[in-house]
Amino acid sequence: MKYTNQVVWITGASSGIGEALAIEFSKEKAKIVLSARRAEVLKTVAEKCEKLGAECLVLPMDVTNYDALEENVNKVLQKFSKIDVLINNAGISQRGLTAETAFEVDRRIMEINYFGNIALTKAVLPKMLAQKNGQIVTMSSLVGIFGFPQRSSYSASKHALHGFYETLMVEHYNDNLKINIICPGRIKTDISINSLTKDGTQHGKMDQGQAKGISAEKCAQIIVKAMKRNKRVTVIGMEGKLMVFFKKFIPPLFYKIASKISAT
Ligand SMILES: NC(=O)c1ccc[n+]([C@@H]2O[C@H](COP(=O)([O-])OP(=O)(O)OC[C@H]3O[C@@H](n4cnc5c(N)ncnc54)[C@H](OP(=O)(O)O)[C@@H]3O)[C@@H](O)[C@H]2O)c1
Repeated sequence: MKYTNQVVWITGASSGIGEALAIEFSKEKAKIVLSARRAEVLKTVAEKCEKLGAECLVLPMDVTNYDALEENVNKVLQKFSKIDVLINNAGISQRGLTAETAFEVDRRIMEINYFGNIALTKAVLPKMLAQKNGQIVTMSSLVGIFGFPQRSSYSASKHALHGFYETLMVEHYNDNLKINIICPGRIKTDISINSLTKDGTQHGKMDQGQAKGISAEKCAQIIVKAMKRNKRVTVIGMEGKLMVFFKKFIPPLFYKIASKISAT
């Protein structure tokens, strides 16, 4: 299966995993909608994609600007007439102990990672159901499966996505609607730099753990492969797979290891 001529809408396409996904879909000559807040950076990504043979629509947006979502959906439909794939990838991480983190930070993370994600899905879903075809991919994380130091709200926002999208899988079991949840371990992107600290300021550092992560390109290739196989849940990275195994089958060992993981 190829995504040639399919309309693929990617949020968080200005950097990291989102940009790498745009490049992967360009190689398959897809029609790509690139969304994130930074319009100028998106234009640079679009130029790279077009060189590879993709047709692009740069559609800058903040996923928490819920009032603009319907208009954004209409802009995509005006340009490409359909939406085959939605990849809800935009997200922000966290570096701060639970006891010290301001409630406003918890709220901001939830707004972007959970409400921003599901709001776009709810705007696109009726169109996919009407066209009797669609694929919705959500970017969760390993911490959407288990807790992790200094990530309480980030982890909670990703756990929440599992509840939402598993429900969608069940509700549309008999429809031609593919739902895929992706759970990467550490991927080498700007995520740690952009993370929010306990007071809501930017962490601003490339963490050691992040720097040693899998490349965004490799991660994107694994995601596209999983999408083609319509895998419900995909865990990316060997360490993560081991931790998921421990949590399921040897919980005491999981909690011991998880408590010692370096947050940075
Ligand atoms: N890197 C990892 O280790 C890792 C592991 C597991 C899961 N993930 C998940 O993968 C996704 C992508 O992260 P990444 O690693 O590629 O990090 P990244 O390089 O920091 O990318 C985050 C993307 O989200 C966009 N974004 C942030 N807030 C937004 C908002 N309010 N509205 C619209 N777009 C917004 C950013 O663009 P603008 O700043 O231009 O808006 C950027 O394109 C996230 O959901 C993250 O939680 C990452």
